[in-house]
Amino acid sequence: MTLLDVRGLTVRTDEGRTLVDDLSFTVGGGERLGLIGESGSGKSLTTLAVLGLLPAGMTATGSVELAGTQIVGAPEKRLTAVRGRDAAVVFQEPLTALDPLMRVGRQIAGPLGRRTGLRGAALRAAVVEALEQVRLPEPARVARAFPHEISGGQRQRVALAMALACAPALLIADEPTTALDVSVQAEILALLDTLVREREMAVLFVSHDLAVVAQVTDRALVLKDGRAVEEGPVLDVVGAPRAAYTRSLVAGARTLQAALDLRSSR
Ligand SMILES: Nc1ncnc2c1ncn2[C@@H]1O[C@H](COP(=O)(O)OP(=O)(O)O)[C@@H](O)[C@H]1O
Ligand SMILES: [Mg+2]
Repeated sequence: MTLLDVRGLTVRTDEGRTLVDDLSFTVGGGERLGLIGESGSGKSLTTLAVLGLLPAGMTATGSVELAGTQIVGAPEKRLTAVRGRDAAVVFQEPLTALDPLMRVGRQIAGPLGRRTGLRGAALRAAVVEALEQVRLPEPARVARAFPHEISGGQRQRVALAMALACAPALLIADEPTTALDVSVQAEILALLDTLVREREMAVLFVSHDLAVVAQVTDRALVLKDGRAVEEGPVLDVVGAPRAAYTRSLVAGARTLQAALDLRSSR
């Protein structure tokens, strides 16, 4: 079953700059697609267009069907119904998703209560359980904390718990570990991998880091200047790239890895 069907997606600014150019891809139910590309290649705008969240001054054309709903040109009311239920998003910076003035528990209680119909003590218990599921130590304490009172890695776990609270069919993760320390990155990546597998959730995973994409996706799509360069099983794309551009990305990543290995062996 095709969950997300993107055809000829094009994003242009009002001034006429084309930022995403005739992009087509699909994500099946339970499938995990990686969107790879350097900074500025149009990855984030693609995910925002999928959610109908493009910034003012930009327009999408083409077709984006999410669980059978057309997103391009849809009225806000239809988009609100789709967000959360069919797709939820985790951004690079967890503070984007979190209200700084609201305790963490209340923020998760919103979407969780809407979906489950739970209230009062039962809802509070479900919130603590949601925080436990993202392996937060002392979930009851975290529920009472404000976002600034917990660490960056813990905030990203909270953002993940919020996204999962909606039980979306598709999780969109846009550079979810890029802002974190390397050791925390690995933990969050492993957690995300486990949680989406357990729930058989589809994932659109965005990163400039090929190694990260290779860890958590089945298929990969390489973007350059808003255009698709190459698509295929992720291990083929990373292990035996066909496009010259992908080869240069892989070579760059290898050179960096070799340099890091050399350093750490000293
Ligand atoms: N709000 C905006 N207004 C104008 N141009 C933008 C805006 N957001 C992004 N862009 C441009 O669109 C291109 C793609 O951006 P983006 O999707 O954020 O790239 P990526 O996520 O791959 O780093 C970049 O050239 C960027 O400068
Ligand atoms: Mg981006």
